[in-house]
Amino acid sequence: MTYVVTDNCIKCKYMDCVEVCPVDCFYEGENMLVIHPDECIDCGVCEPECPAEAIKADTEPGLESWLKLNVEYAKVWPNITIKREAPADAKSFDGVPNKLEAHFSANPGSGD
Ligand code: SF4
Ligand code: F3S
Repeated sequence: MTYVVTDNCIKCKYMDCVEVCPVDCFYEGENMLVIHPDECIDCGVCEPECPAEAIKADTEPGLESWLKLNVEYAKVWPNITIKREAPADAKSFDGVPNKLEAHFSANPGSGD
């Protein structure tokens, strides 16, 4: 198994998760982060740290498409290990439905 980043990370991108990951397996897109499933050691410490509750164990049902997205973009986005400021409007996007369709960006973030 692995942990995966899901819909509610998009445009919230709080980045609290990157600080606690012992193996630095987060990768940064313009609007969200993803987890590299082959690097994640399933420790689970990032899950409760996300203020948007966007990190889930892939053993939860219905996450196949999110696992695919994490696999795909962890290959092409830069690694991120240091938390920066969340977007100024992060709070206004918390809980907004269908962010993948409306707000996902395939562009890479800046990494660190
Ligand atoms: Fe990192 Fe652990 Fe979260 Fe996996 S479960 S992404 S190893 S903090
Ligand atoms: Fe995203 Fe939550 Fe990390 S919003 S950047 S998964 S702390």
